[in-house]
Amino acid sequence: MTETFYFKLLKDAMSRAYAPYSKFRVGAVVRGESGQLYSGANVENAAYPQGWCAEASALAAMVMGGEIRLTEIAVMAEGDQICTPCGGCRQKLKEFALPDTHVLCYSPHELRSTIPLNELLPYSFGASYLS
Ligand code: THU
Repeated sequence: MTETFYFKLLKDAMSRAYAPYSKFRVGAVVRGESGQLYSGANVENAAYPQGWCAEASALAAMVMGGEIRLTEIAVMAEGDQICTPCGGCRQKLKEFALPDTHVLCYSPHELRSTIPLNELLPYSFGASYLS
């Protein structure tokens, strides 16, 4: 996942973020089970709670691409801290994740951390509770 091509996709996604309010641009790339990559960026709104995260955009692209499982997701943001998905996005990711799905956290310069989704959202609620 450190190929130049993949890194470029993240940068492209981040550059398309619509973040006039927070100015915090985020790009995400989901790798579907097929190997296909799906990009997304955060899209904010003047009515603040109506905005959505880059991860949500990328997941929506994956579903529209005909896939409902992801092997990993990469997220890119600026700043000194490692940008991990917010709580709501962890739950959204869990819906489509495989047992070994990982989250790759990038700065615009490097891969900073690779974290299993299970570690970001332990004891999670999911579809199995409803069957
Ligand atoms: N944001 C994301 O897109 N993904 C994250 O993982 C963290 C936060 C967005 C939401 C909002 O547009 C901006 O970053 C500031 O919170």
